[in-house]
Amino acid sequence: MIWISHEQPAGGREIMAASLGIPAGRSAAAGLPFRQRRQRPAVTVVRAASGEGAAVVEPDLKVTVNGLEMPNPFVIGSGPPGTNYTVMKKAFDEGWGAVIAKTVSLDASKVVNVTPRYARLRAGSNGSAKGQIIGWENIELISDRPLETMLNEFKQLKKEYPDRILIASIMEEYNKEAWRELIERVEETGVDALEINFSCPHGMPERKMGAAVGQDCGLLEEVCGWINEKATVPVWAKMTPNITDITQPARVSLKSGCEGVSAINTIMSVMGIDLNTLRPEPCVEGYSTPGGYSSKAVHPIALGKVMQIAQMMKTEFNDKDLSLSGIGGVETGDDAAEFILLGANTVQVCTGVMMRGYGILKQLSEELKEFMRKHSFSSIEDFRGLSLQYFTTHTELVRRQQEAIKQRKAVRKGLQSDKDWTGDGFVKETESMVSN
Ligand SMILES: Cc1cc2nc3c(=O)[nH]c(=O)nc-3n(C[C@H](O)[C@H](O)[C@H](O)COP(=O)(O)O)c2cc1C
Repeated sequence: MIWISHEQPAGGREIMAASLGIPAGRSAAAGLPFRQRRQRPAVTVVRAASGEGAAVVEPDLKVTVNGLEMPNPFVIGSGPPGTNYTVMKKAFDEGWGAVIAKTVSLDASKVVNVTPRYARLRAGSNGSAKGQIIGWENIELISDRPLETMLNEFKQLKKEYPDRILIASIMEEYNKEAWRELIERVEETGVDALEINFSCPHGMPERKMGAAVGQDCGLLEEVCGWINEKATVPVWAKMTPNITDITQPARVSLKSGCEGVSAINTIMSVMGIDLNTLRPEPCVEGYSTPGGYSSKAVHPIALGKVMQIAQMMKTEFNDKDLSLSGIGGVETGDDAAEFILLGANTVQVCTGVMMRGYGILKQLSEELKEFMRKHSFSSIEDFRGLSLQYFTTHTELVRRQQEAIKQRKAVRKGLQSDKDWTGDGFVKETESMVSN
């Protein structure tokens, strides 16, 4: 049994570090100054004797990430759920751990959206109108609302919710002065952190923004350098999955002074072709353009990317207090638990909120707590990164399995070789090779 006490200093970092095998302590990236940081509360782990008489402690969802205190790890991901004051206020009222606003840039007049800009994939046969929505494509750009309006709304939100975490998502052109101006103006509103959108897959890359930077490690290093020289609040770099090896831009961002990485943004996609009109979807005046894929269908891909980044962070940055935010297809507390088990400090939800509303937070929290109760985890740090140790290479899987087979004296689970398939027993044999 583990519980948290707020009386002694520094232990919280150690728990967090311990679960990822990371020593406590944080140093700034080489050559970069420390940012001014909020004081984090002292948190320490107290282990009680298990067995009779040990108090059962209600799971605590609170997290402290890069010095930011959140009531729970659930964060509104940048997009429509953070598009204006009214919806962000709603998110705070519902109790979300933090809100990341829709991405802003200096000149919103350059951002011109089209309608329709969403297309959905439903489970079931092609065109099924009733199946559950499992995939969502959008060709929406960053915020098209004037920057001044968004800044006033950030200010107002921070005035009304001073203790809650508001994160601005920002994106600019390949221009140092533009980035510096944007950071200065956004920070003046009192936002708690910045998430840098290096990952928008459509529209903005045409202006050398978003994924155009996130897909080019040379550009990324330079732009991250500008950003981290200027920013005084924690900076998270949001990664695009539309790249061969996501650990490369993640590594560059962290080496260039970012405090955290968020992954993933949407996956480049074509939702489908209308088989009556032969036109792609979403169809705007008869034409379309590839968009970004999100929702349930992307969850396994997002888990894979987050796992790769977490492994890289553990091996290469294990002496630093860096953070990871998991994003993609979260609709249940179990989905969130998976990201945390792979090392995520926070879990973002975007499409899930668009489909189910802000109230989904209650279900997410309750399901996550239920998972924690089942395993006697009393804090998020108790299980963060715990499942990373169970990944290995395929060669090692083969070695382990051969060893296990030897030890069990060849008690067969699944077929050992392609020559064992029988044809008649195909369905059964396939079943026997599924792990659960
Ligand atoms: C309609 C829509 C608009 C989005 N706009 C932004 C944006 O402005 N900035 C950004 O960083 N990500 C944006 N995203 C990406 C999401 O924040 C998130 O990374 C992605 O959708 C995967 O998470 P999900 O499956 O929970 O939606 C948008 C996603 C959707 C569906």
